This record gives sequence, structure tokens and C-alpha cells, in this order.
Amino acid sequence: MGGTPTDLKLIDENGRRLDGRLPDEMRPLKIEAGVLSRADGSAYVEWGLNKVMAAVYGPRECHPRHLQNPERALVQCNYNMASFSVDDRKRPGPDRRSHEISKIISEALTHVVFTEYFPRTSIDVYIEVLQANAGTRCAGLTAASVALADAGVPMRDLVASCAAGKVADTVVVDLAKEEDNFGQADIPLGYVPRTGEIVLLQMDGDLTSDQFNKGISMAMEGCKKVYEVQRDALKRRYEVRSAGTELEVLGAAPAKEGM
Ligand code: CDP
Repeated sequence: MGGTPTDLKLIDENGRRLDGRLPDEMRPLKIEAGVLSRADGSAYVEWGLNKVMAAVYGPRECHPRHLQNPERALVQCNYNMASFSVDDRKRPGPDRRSHEISKIISEALTHVVFTEYFPRTSIDVYIEVLQANAGTRCAGLTAASVALADAGVPMRDLVASCAAGKVADTVVVDLAKEEDNFGQADIPLGYVPRTGEIVLLQMDGDLTSDQFNKGISMAMEGCKKVYEVQRDALKRRYEVRSAGTELEVLGAAPAKEGM
């Protein structure tokens, strides 16, 4: 959020945004499930110029043991931005922002995972942002929930995530980088379509209560679109698995006999 450079028009005279989108239009979204063979579950998301990978391990014994909960599993998320994911090289390693995002994504996922089935265990979720262009926490949460489903972790539903915000006094969905930088507000949302629950909600900037309500409903509509793409990715993954063509589809040559 910040002052707009005077020559930057975030909404033009036709009501279009910098990248030509209308206020309720989202950036293109692609999701692929099961892209990593070493992890128990994985997903890759391209959302506009964002590129995000998520991998899941577990449920497995929780270490250190003093963190174990005798009644349920811990969902522990680690969000990391690669140094090369942003314009100015990002200093490697955790910082306040990545701790915050890891925490809110862990909490959002804890709401949908049947943690009570796996006492004393940890379900570890790694989110790596390879390329960032605003909305990486939404892309990360979206990828993580597909990766959990790919790992076979029992869940009430997927969490779908999408942001809304305000630019040039207009409420818009799915902010891109310039809109995030020079806009007036950003509201990332995590939504569980089956139950209608909101499991992640943050707000940065100023909105009237009408604008806030409009933003929430736009973000929810966005989440419903994200949910369809998540489900399609999992259906494709299931078809590949049941056809037994997994190795070829994932680009690895099947092992040869007698070598
Ligand atoms: O990515 P998200 O919108 O969830 O989080 P943000 O903190 O609002 O960051 C918005 C965008 O700023 C990121 O997606 C990156 O494109 C950029 N950013 C950056 O360039 N360098 C950082 N150290 C952090 C964020």
C-alpha cells in the first residue's frame, strides 16, 4: 500500500486494470497435483506471475517430542520465498513476514484436517515461492491444500484462497503486484466452500464497511473459482494414478528390467 506514482493509472477510463482485467476478473490459474516424487503429496500453482510449489510429509512422528499433542496432529507449515522470487534478491532464510504467513496458513489448514485421527504426529507442509507477484499467501494456501489431498490426508474439504482489495477507490479481486504496492487495501481470504467457513482473513489498508463487505464477497467468489481448479487438478491426478501411467506423465522414464 502506498502513494500512487502520478503517471500510474490503476483503473483506466474503461474501468480496466493495468493488466486489462475488469474489477471482478482473476488472473489465470493453473494447478498440477503430484509433481514431486519424494514428498507424500505435492502441488504446483501458477497464478498470474506467481509460481508456488507445496510439498507435504506425514502424518509422521512429531519432533521435538515436547511439541506432540496426545489428542491430535499438528499441522506445521513453512512458507519460504526463494531469493530469486522477487525483483531485489530476497535475503535467504526466515523473517517476520514468512513466520506470520506460515502461522496463518497452518491455522487455516488445521481447521480442515481431521487432526484428531493422528494423535502425536506432525503433518509438515512446505511452501516454496519460486516467483512472486502479490497474492503468494493465497497461492501458497491453495497449493498446500491440494498437496494435503494428494498426500491422502483426510480433510473436511479443501481450503480455497483468493484476495480482494481496493485500488483507485474501486473494489477489485486478486490484486497483482502494482495494485498491491500502490493500491489502498488488500484482504486475503481463505474459504472452505463446503461449509462456508472463513479460515483465513487479513486486512491491510482502509475500506468503508460497504467496501469491506463487497471485497469479502468478491474474494469468496474468487475462492469458488479457485476451488474448481483445485478439484480438477486432483481429478486429473486420480485418473493418472488409477491408469498406472504416473511415471510417464511425470516425465520420469520407467525403470528398465535387468540393469
Ligand atoms: O504475496 P502476498 O500478497 O501474500 O504478501 P505481501 O506481503 O502483501 O507481498 C506482496 C508482494 O510483494 C509479494 O507477492 C512480492 O511480489 C512482493 N514482495 C517482495 O518483492 N519482496 C519481499 N521481501 C516480500 C514481498
